[in-house]
Amino acid sequence: MVADSSFESASKKISVTYEGVDSFVTPIDGELIYRAVENVIRNAVKYSPPGSGIAVSGERTGTEFVLGVADQGPGVARDALDAIFQPFKRGLDLPASETGFGLGLSITKHAFERHGGRVKADPRPGGGLIIVMTLPV
Ligand SMILES: Nc1ncnc2c1ncn2[C@@H]1O[C@H](COP(=O)(O)OP(=O)(O)OP(=O)(O)O)[C@@H](O)[C@H]1O
Ligand SMILES: [Mg+2]
Repeated sequence: MVADSSFESASKKISVTYEGVDSFVTPIDGELIYRAVENVIRNAVKYSPPGSGIAVSGERTGTEFVLGVADQGPGVARDALDAIFQPFKRGLDLPASETGFGLGLSITKHAFERHGGRVKADPRPGGGLIIVMTLPV
């Protein structure tokens, strides 16, 4: 998926990297989880400034797989970190060029919760946003 995202990100000179677990097997609805993670990576590319970096990380902690997507964009106000997962919620101060319906993250949340997992947004130390997606393994 990191490789797939490079088409959009390359034209904006954004680098997307992955670090962490290489492979493991767990039953999932692959298409649903793919779309869920893709929404998060696309957001990171869409809302980040040219020349910045997106770090995707994957970690196995006991019975869970924790996937992080950290960007160096404008981030989200602390009091909106939960609201961005609601359908049709979009940032108030988005540039007019960044179109969307505000559905991506609500789909992501549904997909992970359907698998018994969860999703949250945190401010990234130093600026930007981290989306953390957790899946039971
Ligand atoms: N990486 C990010 N950096 C800053 N703001 C973000 C980021 N990801 C999401 N947001 C904020 O959260 C809102 C909701 O995101 P979501 O993906 O649900 O909708 P969208 O990107 O606006 O539209 P859609 O995904 O339907 O095309 C966005 O409008 C934006 O304000
Ligand atoms: Mg989106």
